[in-house]
Amino acid sequence: MNVLGIETSCDETAAAVVCDGRQVLSSVVRSQVAEHSPYGGVVPEIASRSHVESLPAVIDAAVAQSGVGYAGLDAVAVTYGPGLASSLLVGLSAGKALSMRLGKPLCAINHLQAHIYSVLMADDVPDIAGVVPFLALVVSGGHSCLVRVEGLGQFRLLGQTIDDAAGEAFDKGANLLGLGYPGGPVIDKAAKTGDPAYVNFPRGRLRKGRTPLAGLDVDLCFSFSGLKTALLYYLTEHPLSVDRHEVSSLAASYQEAIVDALVDRCGKALTNETHVASGGGVSLNSRLRNKLAEMAESRGLGLLLAKPSFCGDNAAMIAGLAGAGEGVWGESAMAIDVEPNLPVV
Ligand code: KG4
Ligand code: ZN
Repeated sequence: MNVLGIETSCDETAAAVVCDGRQVLSSVVRSQVAEHSPYGGVVPEIASRSHVESLPAVIDAAVAQSGVGYAGLDAVAVTYGPGLASSLLVGLSAGKALSMRLGKPLCAINHLQAHIYSVLMADDVPDIAGVVPFLALVVSGGHSCLVRVEGLGQFRLLGQTIDDAAGEAFDKGANLLGLGYPGGPVIDKAAKTGDPAYVNFPRGRLRKGRTPLAGLDVDLCFSFSGLKTALLYYLTEHPLSVDRHEVSSLAASYQEAIVDALVDRCGKALTNETHVASGGGVSLNSRLRNKLAEMAESRGLGLLLAKPSFCGDNAAMIAGLAGAGEGVWGESAMAIDVEPNLPVV
């Protein structure tokens, strides 16, 4: 079954064609970074206008590169949440229109579940049955959560951020350090030549007695707003000099605090899982990938990391999850509205 996937939840306009949930025939991602970087973050109005302008050509390119043509498509899958309302609306409207025009069923997909599915699209994961139960760390610009996965559609939320997402923490930290936008890649790069022990920033733990969300364990949740404030106070007391090594060491120390918080919560959440997994833009972080690999090895667990091209927002994971039979299908999907705050489960 060939599924055309469409993704417009934030600042990437993406389309892809995936066969039977795994075989990626094409994947086109148009990043809007250049349009948002003058503002130091994503501007929703610019994002949705840009999706309107680029989506038709991005879809055409994905269908052409797949080699199957519009006639060879069996379904259309699209993200309906979570994300920016006005951006989601562009993709969902296009998906509904294409589904009607082609006479093929529509499938509405949860973006966070697709990030989890992206770890299963690696070549060395032949079958989900061989890797469950696993613990998934979903870390992106808008979300940070820990999910226990027992099978497709069998997800249990264990913990999540109570304020900033991990990607947001990277973006805000890079802004304070004058490193540019988006923050994750620039901090990752600068940190390579810095000392991660230069400043001991807070590790994003919640105060005991603070209930983040009904049913969630405080020890499995994240808080990154204090970290950003700690960097701000540090820079107020120690204004940045032109010493590049100091900037690298601050980046490395700041990154270390985020990565430690993420890996610590993963360690605490593990029970009888056989694998630990991570997807989302922040899962591209080299320090996080190394530390997760170390933890997996020390605990005798398998490691599932999304392919770099499927870490950030992309439509292959949307078409993939639909091709695996998940999502909301048919008339229910045609009647669905965007859900900017859609939870992972
Ligand atoms: O998943 P994604 O592409 O979009 C959302 O769904 O939000 O994630 C974007 C986030 C940004 O905050 C970006 O700074 C972060 O992923 N990111 C990274 C790295 N590459 C991208 N964070 C840390 N290290 C990286 N190498
Ligand atoms: Zn995402």
